Amino acid sequence: MEMEQLVALCKRRGFLFQSSEIYGGLNGFWDYGPLGVLLKRNVKDAWWNDMVTAHNELLVPKNAPSSYEMTGLDCTIIMHPQVWKCSGHYDLFHDFMVDCRESKKRYRYDHILGRKVTGTKRGEGGEPGREMSVFITTMETENTQDALNEAALKFFGLRKKDIETLKWEGEIQSVSKLNGFDNVVGPDAKNPGTLTEPREFNLMFKTVLGALGGEDDATFLRPETAQGIFVNFKNVCDSTRVRVPFGIAQIGKSFRNEITPRNFTFRSREFEQMEIEFFCHPSQSADWYKFWRDRRYSWYTEMGLAGDRLRLREHDADELSHYSVGTADIEYQFPFLPPGEFGELEGIAHRGDFDLRSHIEGKLVRDGQRLVVEKLPNGQPKHRGSGKDLSYYDDISKERYIPHVIEPSAGADRATLAFLCEAYQVDTAPDDKGNPQERTYLKFHPRLAPIKAAVFPLVKKDGMPEIATEIYGELKKRFSTFYDDKGAVGRRYRRQDEIGTPYCITVDGQTVQDGTVTIRDRDSLKQERVKKDEIVAVLNERLGI
Ligand code: GAP
Repeated sequence: MEMEQLVALCKRRGFLFQSSEIYGGLNGFWDYGPLGVLLKRNVKDAWWNDMVTAHNELLVPKNAPSSYEMTGLDCTIIMHPQVWKCSGHYDLFHDFMVDCRESKKRYRYDHILGRKVTGTKRGEGGEPGREMSVFITTMETENTQDALNEAALKFFGLRKKDIETLKWEGEIQSVSKLNGFDNVVGPDAKNPGTLTEPREFNLMFKTVLGALGGEDDATFLRPETAQGIFVNFKNVCDSTRVRVPFGIAQIGKSFRNEITPRNFTFRSREFEQMEIEFFCHPSQSADWYKFWRDRRYSWYTEMGLAGDRLRLREHDADELSHYSVGTADIEYQFPFLPPGEFGELEGIAHRGDFDLRSHIEGKLVRDGQRLVVEKLPNGQPKHRGSGKDLSYYDDISKERYIPHVIEPSAGADRATLAFLCEAYQVDTAPDDKGNPQERTYLKFHPRLAPIKAAVFPLVKKDGMPEIATEIYGELKKRFSTFYDDKGAVGRRYRRQDEIGTPYCITVDGQTVQDGTVTIRDRDSLKQERVKKDEIVAVLNERLGI
């Protein structure tokens, strides 16, 4: 599947629009349209239901060390600035970026891809050409070599037919692997050597509280929902009867001033996260980490992501955050990535006691095997913690300790995008006259499909609309249902296929005679007759929701 086709379908059928499109759009911001909002809500509802509401704390789930409780929170986007200082985001949450002195554009350092090429640069004003070797670059991740060919032809002043005269060396690689930029032609530059040295850039959006706010009142839009959970740990323990092990879930907006937002909603500047902070006894944390890693992976497969495009990747020791003893990513092979590459859907991290301790003691740094409070030259903590006691007292074992945390952290937008990519299918199906026609359909899991059923009267007469509206009224009370009486029925089916509606119910001449309707399956295209009074029960069973 070409990504452009999916992007076009998303716009045409109202799944996703560029934010502020009439003003030219805003890079890194996306709006969900009438169908997109239903799809994304279904993703979030499925996650919340399966992780929180439907979790039975009386049973021990398969491969879990014990039973556990789950609860939820909905915290504010703007929090006390000290939260981000103690969490490490204020000092550490940055990307490296480079500026181009010629094009005045800014790029994320590790996202600039390029390759060394030698060619003859056309001379100006009748001057002879001269041979040059440069490192040509692009930001294109799809068809990168094609983009490099184009950039190289432009740089050397050559025509398409001269492509064979270019001599490429080595592999395509990120400029972050190079020792210097003297030879590098920036992605939008005409000359080599115009990229600056990489500089750090904090990804948090800053804002100011109050009308007269100055730098001291600066605070941030949260870059993750997790910290709201950590700072409320004591509130949750004191206000409920939860006992460790338990998890707190939260779904909400996060904001990151990404330097190069791209790949549709994959890397946005405003996005939603679905995070769980799971608190457990330190002696059991390694087992809980394995449980959550596998539980979260199987959730995506249950929701319909195929085995070979989905993978669980355990991080190497040198990839781990300084506080983590284990992290795994659940990754999906998005069609916009080069062949063989996967993009992160969710990270599952063993965070030890780093987060709770940071909010007690202050910002922590690693000192050998230990985490210690980072100090200023005068011996004072660099970022002071709350000083509040966030330890947990187990009144059965009479033990007091700081729980360890396992964090499954998912992106609602990335999951929605993966479900859209996976659902996109093209096949051949007969039209109204029985002629085979290409058909595009979205093969969503029934739980995720924005519309679960559509109801059509075959024609707008002979008592059919009356029966169809009655069925529609019944279905609408239970499922998101669509009523359509316009155009040829074949076209109505196609319109529903294209938005992923699993079932279409048609009221026809026979319905008026014997009270049966047809129910058509989106994937198999099979049509069966069922009694109209049984349609709710049939759909309940087939949708499995
Ligand atoms: N609390 C841990 C945390 O935030 P992360 O790996 O930075 O970890 C978790 O983010 C998830 O949030 C990612 O796996 C991804 O699904 C989503 N996410 C992160 N940055 C994103 C962005 N710029 N656009 C869309 N989703 C993003």
